This record gives sequence, structure tokens and C-alpha cells, in this order.
Amino acid sequence: MNNFSNTHLAKYGFATPARRKTTAFQLVDGKRLKSLVKDLDTADQEALVKQSFSGKSGQIAWLSGDNLWIGWNGKHGLQTLGSLPFKLPGGFYRCESELEEIDLIGWGLGSYQFDRYKKQDRSPSILVASKTKKLQRALEAIDPTYLARDLINTPSQDMSPADFEKVTKRVAKQFSAKVSVMRGDALLKSGCGAIHAVGRAAEVPPRLIELTWGNKKNPTIAIVGKGVTFDSGGLNIKPGGSMRQMKKDMGGAAIALGLAKLVMSRELPIHLKLLIPLAENAISGNAFRPGDILQTHKGITVEIDNTDAEGRLLLCDALSISLGYKPELIIDFATLTGAARVAVGTEISAMFCTNAEDTQALMASGDDQDDPVWPLPLHEGYEYMLASNVADITNSAPGGYAGATTAALFLKRFVDTTPWIHFDVMAFNARTRPARPEGGEAMGMRATYEFLERRYGNS
Ligand code: BES
Ligand code: ZN
Ligand code: ZN
Repeated sequence: MNNFSNTHLAKYGFATPARRKTTAFQLVDGKRLKSLVKDLDTADQEALVKQSFSGKSGQIAWLSGDNLWIGWNGKHGLQTLGSLPFKLPGGFYRCESELEEIDLIGWGLGSYQFDRYKKQDRSPSILVASKTKKLQRALEAIDPTYLARDLINTPSQDMSPADFEKVTKRVAKQFSAKVSVMRGDALLKSGCGAIHAVGRAAEVPPRLIELTWGNKKNPTIAIVGKGVTFDSGGLNIKPGGSMRQMKKDMGGAAIALGLAKLVMSRELPIHLKLLIPLAENAISGNAFRPGDILQTHKGITVEIDNTDAEGRLLLCDALSISLGYKPELIIDFATLTGAARVAVGTEISAMFCTNAEDTQALMASGDDQDDPVWPLPLHEGYEYMLASNVADITNSAPGGYAGATTAALFLKRFVDTTPWIHFDVMAFNARTRPARPEGGEAMGMRATYEFLERRYGNS
């Protein structure tokens, strides 16, 4: 269990009750507004009109006697409280309406700031809440989200494969998990020719981190994350505009590590295998080339059609290694294709599932967690697009139609018949929304945890 200190609480926008002045607010359901207004005196009724308060989610109205109303859409979720930490004047607040865990998560996620390189104008307002189970659980979900966001927001210069390894080891230590790392040429010796090829041109060598946690008698679940610390495209270099955000190409790895942290802090009774392949897709004299043929860990040969389709190369070796642990389920996260973004946009996680029931369960968990995921087809009829004349498969299908599906079909070759869930995510909020500040985001993490807890949890 994670014991959150007061410094942590403040960082996440919370404080526990103490003798300090707090401003109380209540959530006012827009639908019930009319009947509530009737009970106000005329001065307060006028105050509402002056502040154009219509009860919309996140709207603020100050009434007499420091009475504070917050508009609410009647649904517990990230939206309402998630907008407040930087909208309310700085200070301490307490909520008089009953809050759910997801509301508290909203406040915490809305309090996030990335201040490693720039001092921020103000700190978030603080919600004073007693140390209940709800708050503890909310903090357990907020903390790994902050971790993933920080990792993604950190520029590649400070988030190399070696930097990511350090962070992983720190997390592992906190929960007494075991970590092993294969670096550089050791990857070749273990047969991971694909991870090695993607990362060998970079200054900092590629690596595969394995974190193991939990009782071996519990079901083994493998979690895998794409860790490309910068994606220049390689020799198939990306144009400037497309390269601009590619520090986030380790977003899958960040989300996978966040999910692992959530699993460990809540002591979910599973046997966890986290595999994180890390590489920078850089350009130099020894970079891998279009036309090269890679030997993968699974023994499948891959012809390189495009060095920018590097994520699937990292993942294929990691997935193949995970099979050795005989997991009953494999889950991976990756900023894998632009095509997934074209299909579902930047605010939904695209998902591919080998099991139709898992698809439904994940969508339901995503709904409840306000972390939307949506399935795309794992249509085997498109496998022909991965054919190569000189190798077993190619890393990029010609034409580009169904690009997210062909990428998923590529990966599927490396998981055999093991039940598998694959997320193709943005890992980045392109715009600020309540609880979702612009920048790195742990998309799909809470949806997946909820799914796992429903299946494997004790309660
Ligand atoms: N990291 C990119 C995919 C990406 C781009 C994710 C933008 C999110 C936002 C990935 O490595 C890539 O470049 N994929 C190519 C694959 C293509 C060459 C088959 C793509 O999607 O264009
Ligand atoms: Zn790429
Ligand atoms: Zn990439």
C-alpha cells in the first residue's frame, strides 16, 4: 500500500482537515436549479443572474456569506471537480455534497502541473477531505497518472532509455518488485534483433526492462509498453510537423509503468510481468534501413519497408519474450499509428481485443472511469497486406488503408493464441479539458485497471 504523505497530498491538490479556514461549496445539479433558486433570497437570486449561473458543469457562483455553488451535470465523473483547482481562487475548500472516488480523482488530475522547467504562476486550490478509503483509492489512481504524465512531458534529452530505466527501478523498489534489464548487444544475444535494430543508432543504447511482482501462484498477466524515447522516423525521417511531438512516443511505456504501479499499490492478486522495450529511433551511419531483414525473438523474419514503423518492432520482441512466462492475458499500450488517431481522434484510446467479451468489459470499465476506449477490428482478412517476398512479413503494409489494424495484425503474429488486448493511444491531451491538462496523459490506464480489478480483485 502507498502511504501518501502531506507533501504528496498537497501536490495532488488535497489536504486533510486541520484547524484552517476553508470555503465550503456544494454541487448544484443544473436540472434542479429552478427549485433551489426559489429558496434563495432576492439578493442571492440577483447574484446568480449577475454571474450568469445556469448550473452547467464547473460553473462557479458566489452567494452571500461565502456560500459557493458549483454547477454539476448530475453525473459523478472527472468533469466537474476536474475544472476547479485552477478556476477557483487559490485557497482551501471543502465540499458539502457527497463525492465519489471518481470526483476526487477529477480534482487530483485537474491539479496537475508540469513544473520541471518553468515555474508556474500559481499552485492549485486545495480540497480538504478526510482520509477515507475513497480518498486513499483516488490518490492511488492519481499518483500513477502523474507519473505517466511527467514521463511523457519530459523532453527526450532528459528521458532517454537510461532515464526511463532509472524511474522504473525506483518504482520497483517502492513495491519490492524485481527488475532485470538487457542492454545493447545483450539484446542480440537473446535474439531480440528487432529492439536492437531500432535503437542501435542512438547514443544511449536500447534495452528491455522486465519487472516482476506478486505471488507466482496468482494468474500471470503481462503488461507491455512501447518505449520509443524519441521517434525521428529513422532513415524514413518524419517531416518537422509530425516529429514535433515525438518525445511522447514512450507514452505506451509510461502508461504501462503507471498501470503496474496502480496494480502494485492496490495489491491486486495477480502475478505481474511488466516488459518495457526502450529505444530512440535515431539516425546515424549504423541505423537500420528500408529493405533490411530483421531476425526477431520469435524466429519470424521481418523485412523493413519503413523505419518509421518502429513501434511494432520494439513490441514484437517484448511480446514474444512475454510468452515464455505463459501469461493468461497480455496487455500492451503503444503510440503506434497515426491511423488510429484518424479513426477515433486524439481523445479516445483505440483498442484491439482477441476476445469479444473483454471488449465489452473494457468499454464498460472505461465508461465508469471516464477513460473512454473504443474497439477497432482485428480483421484477419487484411493479413495479406503484411506479405513480403523475401521475409516472413513486412513491418509496414503498402497503401496505408486500415493502418491501425495492420499494425495490430503484425503484433498478433507474436502473441500466438494467448488472449491479448492492444491499445493504440495518443498518450497526450491535445487541448486542455477539465482534469485533462494539455500534455502527456495516461490514456487507457484507469479503464484497464478497473477491468483487471473486476476480473481478479478480491472484493
Ligand atoms: N509514433 C508513430 C505513430 C504516431 C504518430 C502516434 C502520431 C501518435 C501520433 C509511429 O511510430 C509511426 O510513425 N507510425 C507510422 C507507421 C507507418 C510508417 C506504417 C504512421 O502511423 O504513419
Ligand atoms: Zn515511427
Ligand atoms: Zn513511433
